[in-house]
Amino acid sequence: MKLISGNSNRALAEQVSAYLDVPLTPCNVKRFSDNEIFVEIMDNVRGKDIFFIQSTSYPANDHLMELLIAIDALKRGSARRITAVLPYFGYARQDRKTGGRTPISAKLVANLIMAAGADRVLTLELHTGQIQGFFDIPTDNLSSTPVFVPHITEKFSSESVCIVSPDVGGVVRARHLAKRIGADLAIIDKRREKAGVSEVMNVIGDVNGKVCILVDDIVDSGGTLCNAAVALEEQGAKEVHAYVVHGVLSGAAVERVSNSPLKKLVITDSIAATDEMRLAHNIEQISIASLLGEAARRISEERSISALFR
Ligand code: R5P
Repeated sequence: MKLISGNSNRALAEQVSAYLDVPLTPCNVKRFSDNEIFVEIMDNVRGKDIFFIQSTSYPANDHLMELLIAIDALKRGSARRITAVLPYFGYARQDRKTGGRTPISAKLVANLIMAAGADRVLTLELHTGQIQGFFDIPTDNLSSTPVFVPHITEKFSSESVCIVSPDVGGVVRARHLAKRIGADLAIIDKRREKAGVSEVMNVIGDVNGKVCILVDDIVDSGGTLCNAAVALEEQGAKEVHAYVVHGVLSGAAVERVSNSPLKKLVITDSIAATDEMRLAHNIEQISIASLLGEAARRISEERSISALFR
C-alpha cells in the first residue's frame, strides 16, 4: 500500500498517513510557464496498491487536472491498483440536466477519472448517492455519521435536540442522523429564486424550545444555512447549530456565517481550511482522517467497509 497526496489537502493526507503509519510517497507537481501541470511520482510504484488523495475543491479545475495527470503517471508507472481518494468530489452538484443544452458535469468528471486510469474511488458523502453510478468502477461513498454522531451526542446529551434538513433534498441524510441519535426531525421548505441566492420559506415540524441542528452535505455561499438559522430562530428554536460535511465556504461565506445566528458550524476537513475559517468564532473543523484511513486500509486488505457504519 502506498499513499500519495495531491496539493489540495496535504494536512488531511498527513493525518491519514499518521493514522495508517504509512509514509506519504513524495510526488512532485510542477507548473510550466504557461501553467500546464506536470507530475512526477518520486518512488517506485510498480505493482503497488496506490491511494492518491485529492479533493477537487477550489481551485476545482486545477485540482482535478492534477488528479488526472497523477493517475496517468501512476498508471504508466505500472501501479497494480489506483484508488482515487476524493474526500470532496467537486462538480457533484451538477448531477442532472437543469435545462435544455446544459451538461451533467458530475458524470463528465467521473468519466475523466476513469479514463485517466483509476481502478476505484473512495469518497465521502456524495451530494446524491446516485452519483456512485456515474462511475463504472467500484466506488465507496463513506457516510459522515461515524464522525458527526459521537460529536453531537457528547455535546448535546442533555438537550432536547431536533435535526433539521435545510431543504427537501437533504431529508434522507437528516432523517438518517436523527434516527441514529434518537432526535426529532424538521424540514425547511426552501425556495431558490435564482442561482446562488437561497430563500427560506417554511419550517415543517415543531422546533419551539429545541436545540436545532441543521445537517447538510455542502455549505458554499452559506445562504442556505444562514437563512435556515434565521427561520428556526423565528419559530422559537432555543439554539441553532449546523453540521455540514464539506465546507466549501466560497466568497463572503465565512463572514456570513460569523454574522449569522448559528451558534456553531461544524465542518469536516474534507476541504482544507483557510485562515479565515480557522479564525471564525463559530466555525469548528473535525477530522475525517481516521475514517478515510480505516476505509483505505480495509480496501487494501479486501475487508468490509460497510462494517464501519454498523
Ligand atoms: C444543495 O442541494 C446542497 O445540499 C447545499 O444545501 C447547497 O449547496 C448549499 O449552498 P449554499 O451554501 O450556497 O446555500
